[in-house]
Amino acid sequence: MYEQIAQEYQRLVRDPNSPLCRAEAYTFQQQIGPLDGLRVLDLGCGEGFYTRQLQQRGAAAVVGVDQSPSMIALAREAEAKQPSGIQYHLADVCTLEPLGQFDLVVSFFMLNHARSYTELAAMCRGIAAHLKEGGRFFGFNHNLELPPAAYPLLQQYGRTHSAPDPLREGDPITVSYGDAADCDAADCDAADCDAADCDAAECSFVDYYLSRATYRAAFQAAGLEALQWRPPDVDPADLAREGETFWQTFLAYPSFVTLEASRQHAQIP
Ligand SMILES: C[S@@+](CC[C@H](N)C(=O)[O-])C[C@H]1O[C@@H](n2cnc3c(N)ncnc32)[C@H](O)[C@@H]1O
Repeated sequence: MYEQIAQEYQRLVRDPNSPLCRAEAYTFQQQIGPLDGLRVLDLGCGEGFYTRQLQQRGAAAVVGVDQSPSMIALAREAEAKQPSGIQYHLADVCTLEPLGQFDLVVSFFMLNHARSYTELAAMCRGIAAHLKEGGRFFGFNHNLELPPAAYPLLQQYGRTHSAPDPLREGDPITVSYGDAADCDAADCDAADCDAADCDAAECSFVDYYLSRATYRAAFQAAGLEALQWRPPDVDPADLAREGETFWQTFLAYPSFVTLEASRQHAQIP
């Protein structure tokens, strides 16, 4: 899915000036916790946006994994331009060979691609297998619990979501970035717009709705406990610049949430 959109992903999704990217950056800063001296594994690292930040914020060793050759190529290109010691592996997290034990495993917007409990449970096993006992998992997910009726509210932040309403387990949710509002095609719904100049169609991908109960079960089955979901944070400087009214909608209907869990300690027989 990311083969065709790797460059557009970098340009549109990781645009540091976009409001949601700024909310992500601030949430990352507020919730990632201390990194000094930690060994960190970034699963579904994409082109390395967060992988590089983990290294810059003091992690002792950072490894990124992604199944998309184009995304990994962009990540390696950035590493070659500015060598920092990050290692990137091209692999599917569900069938990942052991890469060692880490203090912290992170995953930003990968779990929301799991299509079923089985796939999510395999991703969770990949997380747990690389965490030392008591180690922490932290990640971002698109807010799968957002009701489809609220999707139009996200357009003011440059985001289009589309999905069946009501959402059922395993339903696809198409997420599109760019100026969907600029597309003149009469029936543009971004995801499968045919207009040659539709920006939004350039960077669309598909998440899948799985309930929080399914997430809890998959985490638990992998030995990841105390799963917690938190809302994103908005930088007070952004609140002051764009005004509370602009951000009120996002805070009431956040497009992404954070999740955290820890690996169980081994049972003493
Ligand atoms: C929305 S992108 C997020 C990329 C990056 N974490 C970021 O936040 O910029 C999701 C990434 O997860 C990767 N991905 C999805 N399923 C995966 C799997 N089973 N194994 C490895 N990578 C996967 C995709 O290739 C894609 O690069």
